[in-house]
Amino acid sequence: CGIVGVTGKDSAVSILLNGLEKLEYRGYDSAGIYVNDQNGQDYLVKEKGRIDDLRKEVGANVQGSTGIGHTRWATHGEPSVANAHPQVSADGRFYLVHNGVIENFQDLKNDYLSDVEFTSQTDTEVIVQLVDRFVTKEGLDTLAAFRKTLSLLGHSSYGFLLMDKEAPDTLYVAKNKSPLLIGVGDGFNVVCSDSLAMLDQTKDYLELHDGEIVVVKPDEIKITDQQGNAVERDTFHVDIDAAQADKGTYPFYMLKEIDEQPNVMRKLSQVYLNDDGQPVINAELLDALKAADRLYIVAAGTSYHAGLVGARLFESLANVPTEVHVSSEFAYNQPLLSKKPFFIFLTQSGETADSREVLLNVNEQNFPSLTITNVPNSTLSREATYTLLLHAGPEIAVASTKAYTAQIALQAILAKALGEADDQPAAKDFDVKQQLALVANGMQALVDEKATFDKLAKADLLKTPNAFYIGRGLDYAVSLETALKLKEISYVQAEGFASGELKHGTIALIEKDTPVIGIITQQNTAGLTRSNLQEVEARGAKTITIVTDALAKPDDTIILPTVDERMTALLSVVPGQLLAYYTSLNKGLDVDKPRNLAKSVTVE
Ligand code: G6P
Repeated sequence: CGIVGVTGKDSAVSILLNGLEKLEYRGYDSAGIYVNDQNGQDYLVKEKGRIDDLRKEVGANVQGSTGIGHTRWATHGEPSVANAHPQVSADGRFYLVHNGVIENFQDLKNDYLSDVEFTSQTDTEVIVQLVDRFVTKEGLDTLAAFRKTLSLLGHSSYGFLLMDKEAPDTLYVAKNKSPLLIGVGDGFNVVCSDSLAMLDQTKDYLELHDGEIVVVKPDEIKITDQQGNAVERDTFHVDIDAAQADKGTYPFYMLKEIDEQPNVMRKLSQVYLNDDGQPVINAELLDALKAADRLYIVAAGTSYHAGLVGARLFESLANVPTEVHVSSEFAYNQPLLSKKPFFIFLTQSGETADSREVLLNVNEQNFPSLTITNVPNSTLSREATYTLLLHAGPEIAVASTKAYTAQIALQAILAKALGEADDQPAAKDFDVKQQLALVANGMQALVDEKATFDKLAKADLLKTPNAFYIGRGLDYAVSLETALKLKEISYVQAEGFASGELKHGTIALIEKDTPVIGIITQQNTAGLTRSNLQEVEARGAKTITIVTDALAKPDDTIILPTVDERMTALLSVVPGQLLAYYTSLNKGLDVDKPRNLAKSVTVE
């Protein structure tokens, strides 16, 4: 979900709507705003669907100088106007927007609010009714009532933005486990769950820590900790140009982001490698990595898939055993660890709640950690021992593309650095700078072939209910990612499969014309994967091959330029990204905002 708030600007309504539009990638099943004009007029407008629908509903009459807004990714209760935020107290005095999940909302409802009639199924409504209860029945002032409410929430996750009709220029803010920033303006202030929402208002932000409560007025920001002590904090400057987060002439962000990949490779090379091609990595971080006897990569979704490739790089270049784990699994089922573990968190957004839960555990156990993320100052970046940035520029499309390839490239650089530091011959022989240059050129050649992928998608993927990507080793890791791309934006039920494993059951699903896409970039398994493709072809499958130049045969479908075998994932993924894109596009779907998903999931 996305949260925005502003106080002290006459154009509050358009600031909120524009901000929500920028955050739409965080959730888009319903949205709403509440604004107050300081003269006794206030407005609550909510709508099911996109921000565009909300904008139409808001129209020209709704105005104010202080307000809050929300775009939702449903957790409790279906997407509907009643369940959209802001949620309002029964007497119409308090308005609340919320990211996160209140774990004990049912208990709170039973204990304090059994006489209240609820109008939504949300956990959020319980909170706003509770604040109202403590003010009207117990005589607390709003801040004290808010504080008391927060003290009852246990381990719940929340970013809250509360307004009281009787203090119409004030925003009450609190957060736990869910991201929120205060943007500092001149005579006005803003609040947002992601600075992208407010970059056109200010570039100076204050980060908030878990448990803090903030009172924001046009000329004042008061941060207090859980005990009510005042907290002083410096602002940080966000160095993103608002235009970078614009899709320009592209029909969808995803295509723009796919096209940016060659430049991201060059940028990483520039930032992390010197003229001699040697990695420039923080010495303390390298020492900490060197001291480890095993690396644990923890991530979710596409980042997890980038970790699968990264593990191979760390093992082959730095000779260090590396495990990869899905964060939501690791968090509550921690495997037996080695004696000296080092944790690497891969997260584009730096905010994924599942991954953060693991980091909290890791910090409690005092293990060293590194977050590799695209977002400076994000939660996982702040809370890990070390951070390396992906420098990929804002990624807006829900389906991740350039962050995936950036994560792999940066892991290659880090693996090279670690291997060099440890005198590993494989690392010394590996010219990562040259490889990234080859990869960038290879990516460019692939993205220049858009018409080919458009045609292929139309011919083989548009009508099929299901499809398979298969491969072995690194090609299997990429199969998982390309299958995820296809299913998340085109709704084709796609599976990434270890090609040798297919015959042990899943081959039963192959029917006439079922698309099976084989990825072949590894010499030692190329022949085996080709045999597996024969097996499905014999059962009617329509096969497509993605093969490196060095291993190509005359009938292959897509030929990848040759790079070091350890780096092929950076190229073999691109056809999969483009096939998914064109399948979604040709189906007339909203490529950037697939149903049911959100880009950054800040709930477990
Ligand atoms: C969400 C997104 C995925 C993403 C995953 C992890 O589910 O829809 O595209 O891969 O979160 O996100 P992160 O920001 O941690 O990489």
